[in-house]
Order: sequence, then C-alpha cells, then structure tokens
Amino acid sequence: MKMTVPPSSAGTRRGEGMKRIRITPNIDYLEPQGARKLYACSGLALNCRVKAVIDTNPGREATRDFLEEFNPDIAIISHYHPDHSSLGPQVQQHTHAELFIPQVEAPCFTDLDHAVASSGGDVEMAGIMKGFATKLLAYREITAYIPYDSPCSFIFGDITLECIRSAGHSPGHTSFYLPEHKILFSSDMGIDRLGPWYGWKDCSIEDFVDSIMKLRSLEVNLLLTSHGGMITRDIKGRWDKALAIILDRERRILEALDKGLSRDDIVREGVCYPGKGKTAEPLRSLFTLWDSVMFDHHAEILGATSLTGLFPDLKTLEFTPGGRTEGTLRAASPGA
Ligand SMILES: [Fe+2]
Repeated sequence: MKMTVPPSSAGTRRGEGMKRIRITPNIDYLEPQGARKLYACSGLALNCRVKAVIDTNPGREATRDFLEEFNPDIAIISHYHPDHSSLGPQVQQHTHAELFIPQVEAPCFTDLDHAVASSGGDVEMAGIMKGFATKLLAYREITAYIPYDSPCSFIFGDITLECIRSAGHSPGHTSFYLPEHKILFSSDMGIDRLGPWYGWKDCSIEDFVDSIMKLRSLEVNLLLTSHGGMITRDIKGRWDKALAIILDRERRILEALDKGLSRDDIVREGVCYPGKGKTAEPLRSLFTLWDSVMFDHHAEILGATSLTGLFPDLKTLEFTPGGRTEGTLRAASPGA
C-alpha cells in the first residue's frame, strides 16, 4: 500500500494545520497538525465519482479551507462529540454536501443542552462543558441532516464504505471499513496514547469491549484513527493493548478499593487522567468529571461481576501495569 504526503498540505493559521496523506489515488487520510491538535480530529477523504469526507477537524479555519478546496458531495460524521461533530456546521456553511449523522445521536447534534446532559455533570459543569464545546471545539447545533443507522454501506464508484456500529465510546459511535482496501477508520476507539475513553454518562464499557472485539476480528492492513495516527503493524496487538488498558483500570480501582480508598480518592488519583492536578482550568474540572464518570462505569460492572466475568476471552490477555500486553486474545469472538 503506497502512502505519500502531497506537498499541498494545508497551511497553518493560529496554530492550525493539516497533513494530507495519500493512501491510494482516491483515499486521503487527513491528520491535524500544530498547536490546536488537542481540540481536533483526523478524518478521511474519498475522491471518487462522488466525493465524501468523514469526520475531519484540523481547526476551524483549516477545516473551512479544506472543505472549500475539496468540495465534497457527502459528509459523514462518526459520533456527536464536538471535536467530530463540528464538521457538520462547517459543511453546511461552506459546501452543498449532504450531511449524514448517526440516527441514534441526532438529538445531540441538534441540541447542545441534550449533548451536555449526556455528560453526567451537574449544572455548573454543564456551563463549563457548553463553553468548552462552543469556544474551543466550535460546536454548533445543526438543523438539516440525513440520519444513518449502522450497519449500512455507501458505494462510491469502486470504493465501498461499510458503516459499522461500534458503540461504547458513545451510543451511536461508528467506524468505517473499506473492504476492497482492507482499511479501517476506527474513529475514537482508543487506539491512541489515552486509550479507550468512556467519560460520559452515555458511554458503556461493556459495549466498548464488545465493539473492540468486533473490529479486531476484521481483516485490516491499515488502521486509521482519530487521535492516534495510522497503524500499519501489529494491528491486532494494538486492539489487545486497548483492551489491556481497560482491564488495567479495573485492576487499579479494585486494588484501591481493597486499600480502603474512597471514590473521591480514586478519582483524585486518576482513572484516565493521573496528572490532572497540574492541568489548568477548565480542563482540570473536565478531567475530574470524566474520571468520576469512568469510575462509576467500572463500579457498575464491579457491583455485579468483573470484565473477565463478562468477557471470559479477556482472561487470555495478560498485562502489566500501564496497559502493556504480554499476550494476545486466543479467540476473536464478538463478546461473551
Ligand atoms: Fe469522541
């Protein structure tokens, strides 16, 4: 598989920028560059008879510049989190493309209050979340869209795009598989430095693990992620590492509870964000909320069983603290 970086990579403004990586003559991976990368996400451009863009947010102005140049016919968004959904209003403002969003998440695209209510925060945190979503992530409510419900497929000339529901990170989170090229755009499945993220009330660890196992079973030569770049080697090993990170969080929570630590103690130490005490506001409050919700998701499972109780296949994954896997899943079943 040939991949090059065309010299026409988008320029930068106010710390924004985008690297456009050619994977095939018709498929580009669009990766944010620059200082605003924290609030951005990667995407995919399919340059066929019908031109399509998936996710893609290298920053407000860089996104606008890309959309005006690429002029897509169709835009598809994987899930409602503002770093991804902010593509929607940009598409409607700068192109004539039809906008597809996951049906189950439509209320979060059309109503910021509904999206913020899904976070699980109190009234004060809702205000912080709204400011974060609109000012830093450029969230805007949309009114016109076409809902899609996975599984479904788009046929763009000689490229088939299979939409695969991969819930857990959000209820309608979708990944995109190109079977002719064995390419998977996994969006926010946690193949990145942070690992799987389930810090909102509407996330589900059980669905997340189920989705990882489903995607892990696909034949994939190139894995494209929203926040972790491109993966070309040991792709199944990267899925195992993501599972190991979730297992490691459960193990650390259990150990802390056994020592008599409270929920607040464990959240302060960090489920996903151990260094948040040194982080500036509003991120520190957001990280604390997200760690609280992630703790609650783990506690809900531990109240009845454990991750390996729900998914016996995970017992074959040995891991060391920090989430480094020492083994691989023996089976790739789609869950318990
Ligand atoms: Fe997300």
